[in-house]
Order: sequence, then C-alpha cells, then structure tokens
Amino acid sequence: MNKWEAYNALKEDELINSHLPETRLMTEENLMELLTKYGAVILKPAAGSAGRGIITISSEGNERLMVQVKLTKKVVTRDDLFSYLTREILKGFAQYIDSGEVNKILSETYIVQHRIPLMEIDHRPFDIRVMVQRKSETPWKVTGKLAKLANYGFVITNVNLGATILPVETTVQRSSLQNLSLQSLLSELDQVALRAVERLQYNYPGIRVIGFDMCFDTQGKVWIIEANNSPHDNIFLQLEDKTMYETMQSYK
Ligand SMILES: Nc1ncnc2c1ncn2[C@@H]1O[C@H](COP(=O)(O)OP(=O)(O)O)[C@@H](O)[C@H]1O
Ligand SMILES: [Mg+2]
Repeated sequence: MNKWEAYNALKEDELINSHLPETRLMTEENLMELLTKYGAVILKPAAGSAGRGIITISSEGNERLMVQVKLTKKVVTRDDLFSYLTREILKGFAQYIDSGEVNKILSETYIVQHRIPLMEIDHRPFDIRVMVQRKSETPWKVTGKLAKLANYGFVITNVNLGATILPVETTVQRSSLQNLSLQSLLSELDQVALRAVERLQYNYPGIRVIGFDMCFDTQGKVWIIEANNSPHDNIFLQLEDKTMYETMQSYK
C-alpha cells in the first residue's frame, strides 16, 4: 500500500483527516512550507517499509536544522537543506542527474509529512501497531494492539531497527499520558482505526487485514501514521500474552 495513495484515500473522510499528519509530495517548496508550519517534518519513500530511507528534520533555531538518519545526526543551514537532502536521498547519483529533474524524481518517490511529537518513556518514543481484520462479509474488528518503543537514540520505532515490543496498556500508563484515562485513550484508538479501515476498504475493496501504525502525541491526541496491508503478525509473539496472536490466526 503506497503511503501517498493511502493518505489520499484516508483524507477523503473528514474525521479521519483530522487524525492524519499533513502529507505532501517532496518538493523544495512543500518541504520548506511544512517545516515552517510545524517545525519538524519526516521524509519517507512513498513505497518504503521497515524504516528504510526515513529522514527526520527539526528546527534548532537560528536557521539551523537537525537532520537525522537512523543514529546519524547532522546540523545544516536552511539554505543548504535541500541540496543536502538531495545528495542524501540520491546518494552518489545526484551528480549525474540534471538539476531540473531532481524535483520531479523526489516528488515521485518521497513524501514529506508533519512529524508528530510522539509520547515517550525514558526519552524513547513509542507508537502503536493496531491490527484490524475481518472475515468475508463480517464487520471489521481490532484483533490486537502492541506498543513499539524506539531503540536507544532512534526517533523511529521500527522493529527491525531494534524497537522493544511491549503491551499497550502498561506502556501508556508509564508514559506522561498517565493522567488521562487509559480506557478512553485505547477506545479512541480503536474507533479511529475502525473508521479508517472502512475508508480504505472503499478504495481497496479486497482487503481483509490492515496493520495501522498509530500514535498518541504528547497531548494524548490519536494520529494515524501509516496503513500496512500485509502486516507481520509474528511481532505479537513477542508479547507474553499470546491471546491476540491466536485471535489473529483465527481470521486466516
Ligand atoms: N509523521 C510522523 N511523526 C512522527 N513519527 C513518525 C511519523 N511517521 C513515521 N514516524 C515514525 O517512523 C516509523 C516508520 O514510519 P512508517 O510511516 O511506519 O514507515 P515504514 O513503512 O518504514 O514503517 C513509525 O513507526 C514512527 O515511529
Ligand atoms: Mg511502519
């Protein structure tokens, strides 16, 4: 499921749109506009997965920006940002590509998105995998949820980059959201996921399973980060309680 296409499908539902980080195709103009508007953005390959090619950028003040790829951080000026990113994204090939083509290539392959300030535990951000499944003609159901706590030093929470898998309930309780009601936070997560999957089904009629990456921001608001149409359910085996994993198998 291409991230740009899924975003455009989801944002057709106005309520869901209010839970989507604003996303645009990656051009210099879009990048600078979103950076000015939000102070922090994330770049992703539209057809990427497993955190590959993800670059985060945040304002450091005084026209300086922090660019992070995995554990590597670099401070660049606003003026240098786009050419730095072009080199980073296109790696050694940039010199062989006509500068007029660069914008087009980037906009076909990368998206730029408002970077949500994720909830953290001990300075490690986390997001939440929400599995939504249906059998043919039965209503959609949330069959499992787990938290992915970013590996030390990382700002992205992909499992292959060393994230720790934890139960959602204890993770939310340990975070600074602890003064909000756990039940209402979790039920909002389910409601948003169930409404979003209906919208996806409209554009992708054959789907039976979606693994959403969702998160709470530091205010407790729910966001949808991405929709995976072939999510790995084996990460649920890392939880001590295997009930959710077993439920997921019963949908196959
Ligand atoms: N808009 C965002 N704001 C904050 N963190 C994000 C955002 N988008 C992605 N991330 C982080 O990066 C991770 C990977 O991004 P995702 O869109 O899920 O791509 P992938 O297909 O590579 O998993 C997410 O699990 C989350 O930790
Ligand atoms: Mg993901």
